[in-house]
Amino acid sequence: MAKVISLINLKGGVGKTTLTVALAEFMAAVYGLKVLVIDIDPQTNSTVALIDEHEWKRRNVRGQTLLSVFKDSVNKYPVFSADEAIIKDVSNVGGGIKGLDLLPSSIDLIEFQDEVLYKGKGVTQDSVMQLRNAIADRINEYDMVMIDCPPDLGLFTQNGLLISDYYLIPVVPDILSTYGIPQIVQRINRFKKNTASKISPLGLVVSKYRAQASVHKGQLHRLKSSAVKLGYQRVFSTIIPENNQSAAAMDYSASYQNLQEKYSYNRPYQEYRQLTEEVLKYVKR
Ligand SMILES: Nc1ncnc2c1ncn2[C@@H]1O[C@H](COP(=O)(O)OP(=O)(O)OP(=O)(O)O)[C@@H](O)[C@H]1O
Ligand SMILES: [Mg+2]
Repeated sequence: MAKVISLINLKGGVGKTTLTVALAEFMAAVYGLKVLVIDIDPQTNSTVALIDEHEWKRRNVRGQTLLSVFKDSVNKYPVFSADEAIIKDVSNVGGGIKGLDLLPSSIDLIEFQDEVLYKGKGVTQDSVMQLRNAIADRINEYDMVMIDCPPDLGLFTQNGLLISDYYLIPVVPDILSTYGIPQIVQRINRFKKNTASKISPLGLVVSKYRAQASVHKGQLHRLKSSAVKLGYQRVFSTIIPENNQSAAAMDYSASYQNLQEKYSYNRPYQEYRQLTEEVLKYVKR
């Protein structure tokens, strides 16, 4: 049975995409797992971190992206084909990592959301089940499915949450970035109550950590002591430091022979490897 993890935070720029991509790559390349990344963010950041931008454009023109999953709800004839949309063996490591697949997103989802959804019926029970209906028969081909969410709890995120076993909250430990965490937990609890989702919290991952910053130190301490009370389960003991390599690694046009080369031989390679191990330890498989 595949285990599905959504990476979510209502705050933008906290490292959701970077962590989704790195965890998926380490799970596939180091642990030999079969992994599917679903990019449900119209910003398409994890898509263009894992495939060539021209390739994405070609697929977008042909309707081989997540957009077709949602367009099918308003089209007379469904066009989405998981076989055609899911791209096999993606990443700029080793010419593609075996067993790491991608369901790409589309920038056109933004327009779709504005035009169809908000002029129509809003987020309905049916519209939250579109992703599940579209890929239900494919998901168990995978050991792990990693969903890169946009920084909101809109239609696309809810589609991701519905098929998720867990959610992981990447967070930068500063005042503004940690402010909304109780709201995320409460709103996902409410979502779980109102839908058939089995989602539960996996924990909080601290990213872009600056050991010299007293604010970061103080917030990290607070986040650890609030884990049970606020209901996000735990703060992972592996902390991802702020580093240039993590940002550079998202540039698909650079190619690497292996993960050590992509993520530097020491930092942040070691952290991503340890974090992957920790995540897999807590996921019940
Ligand atoms: N550990 C890190 N150290 C330094 N920079 C980082 C690190 N992780 C991510 N970044 C950079 O921070 C920015 C935001 O990261 P990322 O895109 O992963 O966040 P996000 O939460 O997915 O953002 P959004 O909400 O827009 O989807 C990017 O420029 C990325 O390259
Ligand atoms: Mg992102």
